[in-house]
Amino acid sequence: MKPTYLLRNGELTPYDDARIHVLSTATKYGVGVFEGFRAYWSEPDQELYAFRIADHMRRLVDSMKVVEIEGELDPEVLTGQLLDLIRANELRQDLHMRAQVFVEADDGKPDDVGPASVYMAAIPMSRYFTRAGLDVQISSWARISDTSMPPRVKSIANYQNGRLALLEAKRNGYDAALLMTGDGRVSEGAGYNVFVVRHGRLCTPPVTESILEGITRDSVLTLAAEELGLDVEQRPIDRSELYSAEEVFVCGSAAEVVAVLSVDRKPVADGKPGAITAGLQDLYQRAVRGQVAQAHDWVVPVYGTARG
Ligand SMILES: Cc1ncc(COP(=O)(O)O)c(C=O)c1O
Repeated sequence: MKPTYLLRNGELTPYDDARIHVLSTATKYGVGVFEGFRAYWSEPDQELYAFRIADHMRRLVDSMKVVEIEGELDPEVLTGQLLDLIRANELRQDLHMRAQVFVEADDGKPDDVGPASVYMAAIPMSRYFTRAGLDVQISSWARISDTSMPPRVKSIANYQNGRLALLEAKRNGYDAALLMTGDGRVSEGAGYNVFVVRHGRLCTPPVTESILEGITRDSVLTLAAEELGLDVEQRPIDRSELYSAEEVFVCGSAAEVVAVLSVDRKPVADGKPGAITAGLQDLYQRAVRGQVAQAHDWVVPVYGTARG
């Protein structure tokens, strides 16, 4: 379903009019950064909750700095504009939200740093992965690294790496792909961070292992430690640990929390979603709808109804 409006530089713009020129820097050289995140409808509260919207806006501005896109963007102003857009479109269901900054110079050059335009959209979205668990393949493509294309930046150009991995995985009959660093350690998936449970401890690669510093990853680390009392570790993970883990799951704003049932056709444990994964999945689904007290700061009520 198309919403009525998008935002272009803070202005309500009819959905079909939000276009950029084919010869802009963004389309010629892939100069753009973005965020993808969600809002969740809560039936009992009759309220829509935007999840960690301020954190996403901060990461957008950080990404601009690293890829050298000029523009004074205030994360708080962007947050307010996006909430206004949702209200203008009167959306009351689960949503995918997007904020994109493109360099739109005419006849773009590779070293253009502006002028930049900000586009924001909110569109209905349900589950990203429809299966209860995923069969994943370790990609033959290595993850990009901070020495070439910084993966902590959500730059549109970075997505070619995950795309190649995903196409390869799908061609081979898998649901999803995991990428290793150039040194052969576990990095992340094509659009999601990865966790393993080993000897009862929840482990995920540190932010220096060529990953996007996922906001869902951070939510999971916090919920696991504070709500489930689990031991959590951010440490380098070897490929063979994926084959001997008690549980493996991936997470991201789009993916949410989803179990990995097999890696390279080797079942993870008994090949069924594990108890820790299921517990975190449930907690996450409650946290995003404002039902976890410790996570109240993460949700912004879009329509401003009272929250218990
Ligand atoms: C490459 C990559 N890693 C991880 C993630 C998860 O990040 P987040 O939880 O902030 O959505 C994403 C999501 O967009 C991603 O594209």
